[in-house]
Amino acid sequence: MNRTTQRMLCLLLAVLLCCSLLTACADQPAPQSQDSTAAPAPDTTAAQSQTPADTQSESAADTEAPAPEQPAGDTPITIDNIRSLVIGIDEPVTLRDGSQRPMINFDNAATTPALQPVADAVSEELKLYGSIGRGFSQKSNHSTDVYNGTRDKVLDFVGADPATYTCFYVNNTTDGLNKLASALIESEDDLVLVTRIEHHANDLSWRERCNVIWAEVDELGRVNYDDIERLLTENEGKVKLVSVTAASNVTGYVTDVHRVAKMAHAHGAKLVVDGAQIVAHRKFSMLGETPEENVDFFVFSAHKMYSPFGGGAVVGLSQVLNEHMPEFYGGGTVNIVRDKTQTYKDAPASYEAGSPNYPGVVGLGRAIEILQTVGFDAIEAHEKLLNRKLIDGLLKLDNVIVYGDTENIDDRVGVVSFNFSDLNSYALARVLSELGGVATRRGAFCAHPYVWRLMGIPDESLSQFEECTDVNTPGMIRISFGIYNTEEEVDQLLEMLPGLIAQAKIEQENNYSRAEPAY
Ligand SMILES: Cc1ncc(COP(=O)(O)O)c(C=O)c1O
Repeated sequence: MNRTTQRMLCLLLAVLLCCSLLTACADQPAPQSQDSTAAPAPDTTAAQSQTPADTQSESAADTEAPAPEQPAGDTPITIDNIRSLVIGIDEPVTLRDGSQRPMINFDNAATTPALQPVADAVSEELKLYGSIGRGFSQKSNHSTDVYNGTRDKVLDFVGADPATYTCFYVNNTTDGLNKLASALIESEDDLVLVTRIEHHANDLSWRERCNVIWAEVDELGRVNYDDIERLLTENEGKVKLVSVTAASNVTGYVTDVHRVAKMAHAHGAKLVVDGAQIVAHRKFSMLGETPEENVDFFVFSAHKMYSPFGGGAVVGLSQVLNEHMPEFYGGGTVNIVRDKTQTYKDAPASYEAGSPNYPGVVGLGRAIEILQTVGFDAIEAHEKLLNRKLIDGLLKLDNVIVYGDTENIDDRVGVVSFNFSDLNSYALARVLSELGGVATRRGAFCAHPYVWRLMGIPDESLSQFEECTDVNTPGMIRISFGIYNTEEEVDQLLEMLPGLIAQAKIEQENNYSRAEPAY
């Protein structure tokens, strides 16, 4: 074949390829403009109502994810139809036997899936993306306006008056708590009071920088307010900050932060609240009934509220923030830098060195709007329903241990942790995922002192676990709900559990040395 013939053949092939691509494109529905404030009717796809037993036997082809439904009309977003706006909800995962099914996601305390309107807002804003606070262009101006405008949404979300509070953006709660600690802690001799319910982010951030004292939890694992008062009194005038979680990532207990604020203020301390587990679950307000009950600083992550694009925020007293700065320096924080001196701006700029995460901020703003539209009364009622069903179902099973109060669950967000006294939790979590397609979290959930208190493991006996890996750390299984989880999903889990427990026991015999709480 000579060169000319080769070229002719290539040309012919290219034309054929283009034709087939054009035909394929013509088969696709035209992209619909998505009104992100509207939602379709509640999604009742077959995949959701099938039992796992049904779906496990199906072939991959049978369980292929249906095309996502487009939001239609002006249907308002509610707790009943939010599920249809969750990205990836029908995406099949592969089970151990090779079959596929959509996953039941009960791991929302770790992170939440993205909502379609949140992703839409991010991709829409990227069209007009320009440098934030640094550029001279229409796009730069627009992005800067959106970026700063979102601060007002955040302040409004937590009832913070812009005359008193400001908001700076962070990567996540851990970043926010560390930045706050880095700014507010002035000496290793400073004293901070935290509790034994805390996530490591709200413990290590302080204990690595200064002296820390810990208020105990009570026998059911709730924050012990009397112990907070006792420690504040014993250390009269010395406690600089009290830092507590608004809701536990282990038991879901909601802390009465306004009660803690009153106690802290009466003893001359300021209050920091870790809001990671409250923002997607309950209405939170910085304001108590009286000024003494107001929260001073509040920290949270966007990825736990359906915007997994990074980002989060710290809301705090402007005056106090302006008197300090985190040990984090660079562009955007200064008025001028001379040869040997520099003058810093006020908060929030002084807390946001470097170019910011714009998609994270846009997603955060949209997620706030969606949660406000769905409404926290509806979210709270829905979670209580799921909690009650799950706890009641679990309590019917032999040898179960459900941690925390199982009778009065009104002060619990949708988080339930449990164990079986004759079962290794790693073995069970594994079969839940690999055989049942149920995502849970297993371990000590970055809250070791709290989890091991609940399990009754004394601190003295923990040295044996210093070198432990994920498999052999003592722990529990956690189910945590998002706004889109359904009662049917809880029923499916409860239906599957006896069979999965039996299988986990077989695997425990072969692979794991012990049942969980046998210490
Ligand atoms: C109560 C609590 N605080 C802090 C964090 C840390 O959040 P992030 O990983 O987003 O920094 C978590 C994460 O699970 C949490 O549950």
